[in-house]
Amino acid sequence: MGPGVIGQLVAAGGAHPRFVRNCLSCHAPGHRQGLMLKAYMGGAPLSPLARQGVTCADCHVRHYQRFGPPLLAYLAAGRVVHNGFTPESDFTRSRFCASCHQFHKSGARLNGVLLENTYNEWRASPYAKRHITCQSCHMPKGRHNFYGIHNRRFVRRALTIHMDLRPDLPGGPLHVRLSVINSGVGHDFPTYTTPKVVVSVRQMCGSKVCPHSMRQIVIGRRISLDLRHQYYDTRLAPGARRTLRYELPQVPAATAVLGQIIVYPDAAYVRFFRAYLAARTLAPDERSLIERALKHDEDSGYVLWNRRQELKPVSIKARVTRRGHARNAKTHSVGQRPYAG
Ligand code: HEC
Ligand code: HEC
Ligand code: HEC
Ligand code: HEC
Repeated sequence: MGPGVIGQLVAAGGAHPRFVRNCLSCHAPGHRQGLMLKAYMGGAPLSPLARQGVTCADCHVRHYQRFGPPLLAYLAAGRVVHNGFTPESDFTRSRFCASCHQFHKSGARLNGVLLENTYNEWRASPYAKRHITCQSCHMPKGRHNFYGIHNRRFVRRALTIHMDLRPDLPGGPLHVRLSVINSGVGHDFPTYTTPKVVVSVRQMCGSKVCPHSMRQIVIGRRISLDLRHQYYDTRLAPGARRTLRYELPQVPAATAVLGQIIVYPDAAYVRFFRAYLAARTLAPDERSLIERALKHDEDSGYVLWNRRQELKPVSIKARVTRRGHARNAKTHSVGQRPYAG
């Protein structure tokens, strides 16, 4: 369990037991973990078990009895460790993950769509019909990887990205199409409201971005911090595609076009923790936990994809005729600060 969860639990303290219980039901569901966290809020040191969040026992133990997937060959071989376990086919079903990755149908929604809806997204996808489960992708061959949006290679493999560039006439407008296709994510990309994926194209003047030459689109689901408004939902369902259509005059000094996709996995948490720190008086230890979480989340962005394509320089004659358009383009340019607004 990260400092962002623990910090909020401590700040809520004994005053809001329902709030705390709700968080723990997904983040640290073990009964003993709950008791330990309660003691921690009362001033005792935080036990390592409580800090571990979701543990082996949360998924594999009920009533002091061990459960696991039906590894029939293993069980038949007879060399079973820990006095064996009870085979349970639920371990191989997507439903197994739903209790923490799917809100109940009475849960919070905006524009009719639940704020956590991963299981339903998967169920509506072609993967469900082909019996490609959550475990097939997130626990390949039983490995407990649980890679997600924070893992660049895992995300990259699941997307198909095309960039094509048409600098038709010398000095004429540049046409660039940069498309992202959700070709391998078993639910919406991204599934939660927390990440932000920025797809951009710009012209490079040497090592600098040519002024006003950048255009971008955002893939994600943006909601307000009080969870009452949805600003946009541009996520990609399985198979869907989104394209940035770039059409601007070539800047005379431009030497290349740069296409780029940046992932900010924790964008919503950055906004949330900044507002949280500004709005509350917190004890020093609570403040330092939230500040640590904020720092971690501000630094988790990464470049998913990059392509640079060299340009031929624009002729002097073309330069004169294009100037008016270049100035016009300024009004459409967008900011580059990922957590602002
Ligand atoms: C239905 C299950 C569920 C409940 C209830 C829940 N969370 Fe989460 N939480 C998740 C999942 C899944 C993630 C990881 C996905 C993501 O990054 O958005 C997460 C991520 C987080 C993170 C970012 C990761 C980190 O460790 O910093 C924070 C902070 C957090 N939750 C706090 C809370 C708090 C506080 C509560 C109680 C008000 C709560 N959560 C209730 C499922 C839940
Ligand atoms: C979030 C739930 C979850 C947690 C936490 C978890 N497991 Fe699992 N585990 C599963 C599921 C689901 C499977 C079945 C995966 C499959 O076969 O597709 C599994 C399978 C296994 C298997 C069989 C692997 C194989 O060869 O197929 C072992 C052994 C195991 N878990 C041990 C552990 C241990 C030890 C931990 C703690 C370090 C742990 N698990 C934590 C859900 C979990
Ligand atoms: C007991 C609740 C629980 C269950 C059951 C559970 N998860 Fe999670 N899962 C979480 C929480 C909480 C997090 C966030 C941990 C954090 O970032 O602090 C998480 C994180 C993840 C992530 C990583 C997200 C990221 O941001 O990188 C993936 C992927 C994931 N879970 C997949 C699964 C799959 C697949 C299953 C079913 C086999 C499953 N989970 C079952 C609670 C659960
Ligand atoms: C076909 C492969 C595939 C299947 C099936 C699949 N996922 Fe994913 N999942 C991915 C990929 C790739 C990502 C990383 C991209 C992203 O975040 O959307 C991901 C991301 C996630 C994340 C991290 C989300 C975040 O915002 O941090 C969670 C949690 C998750 N999946 C849970 C599940 C659950 C639960 C199921 C089953 C209901 C499931 N996945 C089915 C491929 C899959």
